[in-house]
Amino acid sequence: MKYEVMETSCKLTLIDAADLTKQESELLTKAHEAAAKAYAPYSGFRVGSAVRLKSGQIVMGSNQENIAYPSGLCGERVALFAAGAQFPDEEIEALAVVSPSPVAVEKAFLPCGGCRQVILESETRQSTKIKILLQVRNEVVLVSESAINLIPFAFNVKNGALRADNH
Ligand code: THU
Repeated sequence: MKYEVMETSCKLTLIDAADLTKQESELLTKAHEAAAKAYAPYSGFRVGSAVRLKSGQIVMGSNQENIAYPSGLCGERVALFAAGAQFPDEEIEALAVVSPSPVAVEKAFLPCGGCRQVILESETRQSTKIKILLQVRNEVVLVSESAINLIPFAFNVKNGALRADNH
């Protein structure tokens, strides 16, 4: 039996926080401000997110938990859905995601699969890529030039098949 191999590559760059542009570090600061407003009494894990729109407007979000666990929502989705709800026609230029939780600061924190799929859809519904900034440690930021790097082989029913190339 012959198998077909699907292969793809992802590019994430670890950069020094000092090398960020002013606009990028401002977006990270906004994500930190958002994290301070998280409602995470059950996990204690705070996540903050900030979306920069083409107009320069910044939309913030943080994780919002609920006693009925699945009813809560991650910080990234709160910010992206708020941006979609308030500014449906505005392009998203960049997204910053942070967690001030000690475990995230000491090691790393990457968005969950569900959020990656949502970030990808925010990108595919517009014609331009979204730059993603993930603060993995205090002084280090993981940068992706597109959502596709975070979710290769994403769920996609385009052409009736799962495709590696979402663009
Ligand atoms: N969480 C996020 O906000 N973003 C992610 O990408 C992963 C997890 C939240 C959900 C929950 O409130 C807490 O972190 C612990 O899982």
